[in-house]
Amino acid sequence: MLNELMDTKVYQLVTERLTPASEGEQGQPIDMNPALIEQILDLYSKDEDYPIEKMRAFSMEEILNYLQATHRYYLTKKLPEIEQSLVHIFSKYGQSHQLLASLAYFFNAYKENLIAHIRMEEKEFFPYIRQLIALSKDEASNAKRPEKFDIQHFMDSHSPIEDELQEVSTLIKRYSSADEPMPLPYKIFLNQVEIFEIELRKHAIIEDHVLVPMALELEKTFFGTSNTYSERSPSQ
Ligand SMILES: [Fe+2]
Ligand SMILES: [Fe+2]
Repeated sequence: MLNELMDTKVYQLVTERLTPASEGEQGQPIDMNPALIEQILDLYSKDEDYPIEKMRAFSMEEILNYLQATHRYYLTKKLPEIEQSLVHIFSKYGQSHQLLASLAYFFNAYKENLIAHIRMEEKEFFPYIRQLIALSKDEASNAKRPEKFDIQHFMDSHSPIEDELQEVSTLIKRYSSADEPMPLPYKIFLNQVEIFEIELRKHAIIEDHVLVPMALELEKTFFGTSNTYSERSPSQ
């Protein structure tokens, strides 16, 4: 029963990002290959044992569309939800909790980092991959050959942004004592942050271990260089 409930929750989590959050929101629902959804669900449930090569069987476009939908979902739904919980804690405890100032400070700084991380991918890395895909589809024509983007450099600076989120639980746990149970709003906030951390980890696995190796392969066919790319080991 509990497992079924978990499966339903994970299914909702993964599919929720494929439809715009509200009526006013821009964008069409994403028509995703059900077989890819199944693999993503598997990645969520299997932790370290998920055979990542399976996901490389899908087209780069499908992977890219999924990752972009996920970025949108973080910016328009997940971050605002977590912020909302923080506002709720503020309205309940005001200035009385010393922890709040540290939490708010940390979370705002974290949010800025994450937004910058996503922007860089959306502005530089993903458009480059789209150009490579266009070129591969239309080699005979004059599809514009992109300037070579340094994927290795991208990987070197592609920091595992999810690790920083652990700081939130450290902060909260440091302030809660054994004889005083953690207040419910903090528990909820902590839970949201922990789920988001898992989310970001899965997202990074797809970026680093599915999209990047596929992009390097495709790049090789146009630029002919064998890159000395080494995968960082998946940390799930
Ligand atoms: Fe990303
Ligand atoms: Fe990333």
